[in-house]
Amino acid sequence: MRSSSQQASATGKNLDAPFHVNGTSCYLDDLPELAGTIYAKVLGSPIAHGRIQSIDYQAASELTGVVRIISYQDIPGENQIGGIIADEPLLAEEIVDFQGQPILLILAESEAIAEVALEQVDIAIEPLPVIIDPREAYQKGHLLSGSRSFQLGDTDTAFEGCEYIFEGTAETGGQEHVYLEPQGAYAIPTERKGLFIYSSTQGPTAVQRTVARILGTSMSYVEVDVNRIGGGFGGKEDQASPWAAMAALGAFLTQKPVKCLLDRKDDLTMTGKRNPYTSDYKIGLDKDFNIVAYEATYYQNGGAAADLSPAILERTLFHGTNSYFVPNVRMTAHSCRTNIAPNTAFRGFGGPQGMFVIEAAIHHASRALGVDPAEIQRKNMLKNGVEFPYGQIVEDCEAVPCWDQAVDQYQLSHLQSEIATYNSTNDFSKKGLALMPICFGISFTNTQMNQARALVHIYSDGSIGVSTGAVEMGQGVNTKMVQIAAQEFGVSLDRIKLETTNTTRVANTSPSAASATADLNGKALKDACQQIRARLFTIIREVVAVEDSVEVMILDEKIWVGENQVDMTWEQLIQTALSKRVSLSAKGHYATPRIHFDKTVEKGHPFAYHVYGTAILISTVDCLRGTYSFDAVKIIHDFGTSMNRAIDLGQIEGGLVQGMGWITTEELMHRPDGILLSNTLANYKIPDIYAVPKEIEVEFLPTDGSDLAIYKSKAVGEPPLMYGIGAYFSIANAVLAFNPKAKLNYRAPFTPEEVLMALYG
Ligand code: MTE
Ligand code: HPA
Ligand code: MOS
Repeated sequence: MRSSSQQASATGKNLDAPFHVNGTSCYLDDLPELAGTIYAKVLGSPIAHGRIQSIDYQAASELTGVVRIISYQDIPGENQIGGIIADEPLLAEEIVDFQGQPILLILAESEAIAEVALEQVDIAIEPLPVIIDPREAYQKGHLLSGSRSFQLGDTDTAFEGCEYIFEGTAETGGQEHVYLEPQGAYAIPTERKGLFIYSSTQGPTAVQRTVARILGTSMSYVEVDVNRIGGGFGGKEDQASPWAAMAALGAFLTQKPVKCLLDRKDDLTMTGKRNPYTSDYKIGLDKDFNIVAYEATYYQNGGAAADLSPAILERTLFHGTNSYFVPNVRMTAHSCRTNIAPNTAFRGFGGPQGMFVIEAAIHHASRALGVDPAEIQRKNMLKNGVEFPYGQIVEDCEAVPCWDQAVDQYQLSHLQSEIATYNSTNDFSKKGLALMPICFGISFTNTQMNQARALVHIYSDGSIGVSTGAVEMGQGVNTKMVQIAAQEFGVSLDRIKLETTNTTRVANTSPSAASATADLNGKALKDACQQIRARLFTIIREVVAVEDSVEVMILDEKIWVGENQVDMTWEQLIQTALSKRVSLSAKGHYATPRIHFDKTVEKGHPFAYHVYGTAILISTVDCLRGTYSFDAVKIIHDFGTSMNRAIDLGQIEGGLVQGMGWITTEELMHRPDGILLSNTLANYKIPDIYAVPKEIEVEFLPTDGSDLAIYKSKAVGEPPLMYGIGAYFSIANAVLAFNPKAKLNYRAPFTPEEVLMALYG
């Protein structure tokens, strides 16, 4: 086989990068506005739980420049935005269930006027009791959805035979998405009550469905368009929909273009975040430190409405045993209803929350037994042929290869002895090291969502337009789509024009999520390209009069028949196709094969494949101040055969640092009455350049990859976030070097205050 120079792009670049840098990439607020555009502001509930007694917006609506004020009573369709469960109104009716819950939509000629109007609304709400603790919610029976339980083997009997048993609790906090571009949409009325909506969403179809429901119209009248979004991280999988619905409602009722763009503070208070979890664990080991039994109960803080929490809960169970094989498992998860903003998808989608708990359990056990946690971790790694607690059999397992390569290549024993020397010569500064293996399942856990479509046109000048359901949010999927079309046609990258993601061109899309965007849309795109390519190959065979058995190829824009180059350019080929009246358009479709899951027994084969890796994290703790920094994070990651190393490395670095932020400094705080205190970026600490590890090393595990990954290039978006979990244990080990009796409560974020208390606790 000739190899295409397109392979060169495997080393890669992100085609968007120069345009991001020179400022010409177009986000929602960069769109030119139509004359007469109206601006929307949302009035949110000032308290976390209450009964609305009266709302008076007469004075506000009479202000000059105020166009209209809209309440739930003005909604022409159904006042409902719940995706999985219909439990959330767009605009509150009698009850408010969280601070910031939208009550009124204020439309004005400018944002400033809308803001003045908002201040003039008189609203009386009788407070009701507030619950923010998921365990309390659980005890009172406030659940968002049915509890779930995954079981393998028989834990009751297994614990009886265990040499060692340890029990405890572990907690992880929420996490604010802090996408650079806040939530927003711009809705433009079209004729006959249609709407065109620009939305900053990961899920254009979710927006389309929600808008149609709110307006009482059909989806065919709602066209949603996304050029690119300034980050999503899961926060715009479902939670872009209400803001698009606000803009759409305004545009529908006034028949004017309406823009609804949240400012940062509204975004921070009104939108949901990663679900905090509090969990109980019980781990049992035999005398050789094999984990024989594991039980966990997870209390998920879902917030005031279900949103995606039931699906997130499920992924917690899928990843509850991380990279380990445990023959006897019982994990139960409860989605608890509290009075904070409904929590939602966030990179890892519940997986990280489950993985933290088993890592805590292993750390607890190893500390009590006086062994290195790495010994227990390595001993219990997944291997081919064993069963996940959800019934899928482990195949193509890279858990041990990643771990062993990390240990060898990064010279773990050398690192450990350096740390021991440092710790023995420094009294008030200690270093800690932890290994963090990951195993993450690729596919939407809801099997039906694992499908995608793509539309390809070749124009008469030989240029190629590509539409898919993939939303570019910084993760580089657009570059990957361009690479795929170029590779399939054998033409150069600059022939490909990637179009916006649009519900009229590609319908019924799954959100760009679950790390599966490139796989699903890439495979659909490949299908579309191959349909057209087959027609082109037929034409080539006709033109040069060879049989069907002779191989035709287009490589680097040159056409080959067998070993002979054909005297025909790409443009001539396209012209010939047109003259022969052959279609140069195709719609591709892809549905992940093999996967299935039966919720009635909680068993099946939900994932196309798994992604593995191991990180070594080294921290230095200032034992007088409780502050810390990270010397290095060294990773062996299973990319399969990466189709774009630059993009994939960027995902590892970004995911790692985002995960470390979640585990270390990002602390969401609510008052007992449910008011969010961490409501600005001044009092919510995301990682900055100083928090980034001084050294990040990422090595590609040499493997083939899975056929179910596009070009065997494995999904990369979410898995690296979970390396960040190791930050807790790295700091914990430094703390233990200072104070071997330190009390660790396995509660993240491990803020400097918490570290200080552990050092002297
Ligand atoms: N990277 C950037 N730069 N911005 C993002 O919003 N989202 C993450 C991840 N990486 C995100 C990102 C999340 S939550 C997911 S699910 C995947 O990207 C989605 O894209 P993919 O399916 O193409 O990996
Ligand atoms: N991952 C991410 N997003 C999702 C999923 C999932 O498994 N299911 C539904 N939305
Ligand atoms: Mo990612 S949490 O699946 O958008």
